[in-house]
Amino acid sequence: PEPGWTTRADVVIIGSGIAGLTAALRLKDADNGIDKLLVVTKDQIAAGSTQWAQGGIAAALGPGDTPEEHAVDTLVAGAGACDADAVRVLVDEGPEAVRELIALGAMFDHDPDGVLSLTREGGHHRDRIAHAGGDATGAEIQRALVAAVEAAPEIEVVQHALAVDLLLTDPDDPDGPDGRPGVAGITLHVMGEGQRDGVGAVHCRAVVLASGGLGQVFSQTTNPAVSTGDGMALALRAGATLRDLEFVQFHPTVMYLGPDSHGQQPLISEAVRGEGAFLVDGLPEEGGRRLMEGVHPLADLAPRDVVAKAIMRRMLDTGQAHMWLDARHLGAEFWERRFPTILATARSHGVDPVTELIPVAPACHYASGGVRTDLHGRTDVPGLYATGEVACSGVHGANRLASNSLLEGLVFSRRIAHVLPQELRDWREPALDTRTAGLVSGDVRGELQEVMTSRVGVLRNAPGLAEATVVLDELGGRSSQTVDLDAWETTNLLTISTALAEAAALRQETRGSHWRDDFPDRDDAAWAGHVDTAMTDGVA
Ligand code: SIN
Repeated sequence: PEPGWTTRADVVIIGSGIAGLTAALRLKDADNGIDKLLVVTKDQIAAGSTQWAQGGIAAALGPGDTPEEHAVDTLVAGAGACDADAVRVLVDEGPEAVRELIALGAMFDHDPDGVLSLTREGGHHRDRIAHAGGDATGAEIQRALVAAVEAAPEIEVVQHALAVDLLLTDPDDPDGPDGRPGVAGITLHVMGEGQRDGVGAVHCRAVVLASGGLGQVFSQTTNPAVSTGDGMALALRAGATLRDLEFVQFHPTVMYLGPDSHGQQPLISEAVRGEGAFLVDGLPEEGGRRLMEGVHPLADLAPRDVVAKAIMRRMLDTGQAHMWLDARHLGAEFWERRFPTILATARSHGVDPVTELIPVAPACHYASGGVRTDLHGRTDVPGLYATGEVACSGVHGANRLASNSLLEGLVFSRRIAHVLPQELRDWREPALDTRTAGLVSGDVRGELQEVMTSRVGVLRNAPGLAEATVVLDELGGRSSQTVDLDAWETTNLLTISTALAEAAALRQETRGSHWRDDFPDRDDAAWAGHVDTAMTDGVA
């Protein structure tokens, strides 16, 4: 639709989690001639995934730990698909980035002797996960970042605004080094901000995408409702390349609430296993067996993909809809102090982890892939940067190491803020945007999630993936009669689901979180590279 209003900002940041707010705060502090920063967020400022993070943030901060050891664990979890240079950046710059977050006011947990408290999660060989409020790390980080942003007059926050599409420079007047159109602005659909209600345009010199992941592609996810892959879809439409989409991580221990429970599901942090909980296929007193013993040397703290697969295998073998986590021996006092959020949530669903096993099953948790970037968050569209879950910087490979996601947002947003001011482009007129919306009906969302879960979920094969592509194609023909948030989001979900299913079909091997029962082995000879997705003539 025609923009109903226009405004200007030097830099527009899409997303208000750890990645977006860190970018805003760092750009504000840079001595750079950026006068106006606009943070755009689809819901309220704290509605994204950051505030839901439980386990914590990983960095080599403990005695005897080193960035090298953190790198090794990251590379092993990533199953041969990480970019070693990006991992190096992550682990080397991580400790300082976390210290800065603490200096900003994020209150992490400390031992009684005042030392930063560190725990362990899957795939880590050391205690290196800093946490806050026991299991409310993300909420504390979000609180501290929001407070800092609210105190910064240079940063304007627009809530309840969906980023629709980039406005690009004229293709006949390219300004990128390789002759590509670059960023000249962005269209927003604002829902209820007075003067700026409806679809409008922001003219700008750079856009930082920090809009998070795509969990709502699947029926059950730990992600909040806002995680609909908008940033990835927008970047794809603007000519950016997506990478590693097939590597969607399924968290092994998501509380199972029954077959009809859809949308965001309660996470039972890996840190609970880090503190001694273990997986079983039934009550140990009645003959239930431990799942992870003998499967991996790290047993219940094996990398996430290994644990998720072991759970799924036992579920398939036994026909059960879930497995169990036994954390009763941690005791009431420990549960209350260390995992108050999880304890309250489990109890609210009728399970008391102090006396009962917790029913758990894998659910979609994290997009290891995303918009391809270099080591400074640059995408291949001039003036477009990406950071956090929306990005694929190369640090996660085929399977993200636990608690590296908050860290990635922190580290790479700092790096973007370091280079962006020097390379800030001149104001450019956007080319006329001749695209028509072509929106898909919000009514297809349930069917989309169903086919993605059953055919493109934890376990995949060629016939299932082909069937998913056919169903998605059919759903794409059901157009929306209205231009509203549901239609925009469902359109983005469809774009990303189609690209994901195609990437999963292409990768004919099993690696990390990409599990094919028709290609059960890792095949380094054929599949050491990446699957990239880009638009050609409007087709992904
Ligand atoms: C968890 O607390 O288990 C999640 C941590 C993560 O996803 O990195």
